[in-house]
Amino acid sequence: MSRRPLIAGNWKMNGLLADGVALAEGIAAKRKAQPDLACDMLICPPFPLLGAVVGAVAGSGVTVGGQDCHGKTAGAHTGDTSPALLKDVGCSAVILGHSERRTDHGETDAQVKAKAVAAHAAGLLAIVCIGETLAQRDAGQTIEVNKSQLKGSLPEGANAVNTVIAYEPVWAIGTGRVATPEQAQEVHAAIRAELAVLIGEAEAMKMRILYGGSMKPENAAQLIALPDVDGGLIGGAALKVDDFWAIACNCA
Ligand code: PGA
Repeated sequence: MSRRPLIAGNWKMNGLLADGVALAEGIAAKRKAQPDLACDMLICPPFPLLGAVVGAVAGSGVTVGGQDCHGKTAGAHTGDTSPALLKDVGCSAVILGHSERRTDHGETDAQVKAKAVAAHAAGLLAIVCIGETLAQRDAGQTIEVNKSQLKGSLPEGANAVNTVIAYEPVWAIGTGRVATPEQAQEVHAAIRAELAVLIGEAEAMKMRILYGGSMKPENAAQLIALPDVDGGLIGGAALKVDDFWAIACNCA
């Protein structure tokens, strides 16, 4: 089963306008020069940069996504952004349930699910993030925690076209401590097995599962080559054109 890898950059709360535009233009230029690289590429800047970044990557094949959205279409929700607006300004995807949002904003599985429903209704690809903490891993709860988050966060109607799963072990995010290929493959395979229960075997085999957590040019090749790893959700290394591009080049 061949799944087209997705190389997604999560810029988090980094960069000012000029930095974001330069980064987006740099990635777009690389992609334009190599349009047949066998992966999809997505960048997810902070909200105020979305319009400028959409303009910067226009015509390159690189797509743009948000880092969160609200579960409702519109209304009195100060500080939130609707999936319809993300779509309207040129986004095609949105990251949902990142562990930093689950921690910083207390997002629950149920809220992540509601956001994914709203994202789908707006025509966005939902990138649903799950992952265990170090304490949960040390307690031997890794598979159980990921299965439970998946079950709680995955919306009705999720399929391989409208949804991507990102497995991001919390202990590997921004720490430089990457999961070993064995650890990543074990969890990715367990996620796919649970997906088969939730959405059926055929769709589970088609759905992309990204690895995230200190993915860098030096470790990306062996992670992306794993049978159940279908690309990456990349934070720190997505902030440099050459690093992000070098990771994508593993999808030759
Ligand atoms: P990192 O972040 O690559 O900096 O570890 C990944 C993420 O949180 O999406």
